Amino acid sequence: MSRAALQQEMIQALAWYADHGVRDIWLDEAQDHTKLIETVPSLVSQISQSQPVEVAAPAFLGKSDAYEEAVKLAAGAGTLEELQSVLAEFDGIALKKTATNMVFCDGNPKAPVMLVGEAPGADEDRQGKPFVGASGQLLDKILACIGLDRCEEDPSKSIYISNILNWRPPGNRTPSPAEVELSLPFIERHIQLVQPKILILCGGVSAKALLNRSEGISRLRKTWHQYKPQTKELVAISTESIPAIATYHPSYLLRSPAQKKLVWADMLEIAQKMNNFT
Ligand code: URA
Repeated sequence: MSRAALQQEMIQALAWYADHGVRDIWLDEAQDHTKLIETVPSLVSQISQSQPVEVAAPAFLGKSDAYEEAVKLAAGAGTLEELQSVLAEFDGIALKKTATNMVFCDGNPKAPVMLVGEAPGADEDRQGKPFVGASGQLLDKILACIGLDRCEEDPSKSIYISNILNWRPPGNRTPSPAEVELSLPFIERHIQLVQPKILILCGGVSAKALLNRSEGISRLRKTWHQYKPQTKELVAISTESIPAIATYHPSYLLRSPAQKKLVWADMLEIAQKMNNFT
C-alpha cells in the first residue's frame, strides 16, 4: 500500500471515529485527560492538510526504517557497553520521550543464568534498574530459593537481569507489538553478548517475543525451549541456541498468590538444570 493510500485510510478511520463521538485517543505522550483535547478531530484536519507523510509502517506492511536502524545498531554493538550506548542514542521508540531513565540491566553479566522480564515499571523508571519495585522484591525472594542473588560477585550464585523493553510504557500498559518488534534486535543482541547457559523468560510478553510464539504463558511454561535469535542479522553472527524456560511474572503472583506453587516447580527445574553445569 502506498503512503498516500495509507494516509487516506487513516483519515477515513479517524473521521469515522470522530463521527461516532470519539473525540480523544490515548497517545504515547502523556496528556491531560481532565481537559477535552479533541485529539481525533484535530488529527483528521492535520493529516488532511499535510503532504503524504513518512508513516512508520505497521509490522504487517513491512519493516520500518526504525526497525532497520535498530537492527544495524544492535548487530554493530561488540560489547555490552556499546549496546547500552547505542540503545541510549536510538530514537525509534517513542517511550523514550516519556520515560525518566533507560533501564538496561542489573546483576552479574558473567552469571550463567539470564532473566528477561517485560518492561520497566514506575520504580524501575525512577532508579534506572530492572525489577526494583514490589514485583522485583518478590522476584529476588523467589530466586534466593534456588541460591541466586543478583548482587553476588561469584558468577555461579549470581543472575543477570534485563527486560524486552528498555523504557517504561506510560501507566504500565502492555507494550504494543510495534514496541516489542523494535526492541527485539536489542534484547537478542543483549543475550548474544551475555551468552548465558540458561534463559528465564519472565511473563507472557517476554516468552512470546523471545520464543516467537503466540500461545499464552500457561502453555509455554513447564517445558524447556531452545531459544535462538530471530533477527536475521544476528543469526548471521551466531546461531547457538540456549535452553530457555518461561515462568509467571511476579506481578501476576502478587495478584494471584496461589500460583506461587507453579513458579516453585519452574524454579526446581532451573535448579536441576544448573546442577548439570557444575
Ligand atoms: N516488570 C518487569 O517485567 N520488569 C521490570 O523491570 C519491572 C517490572
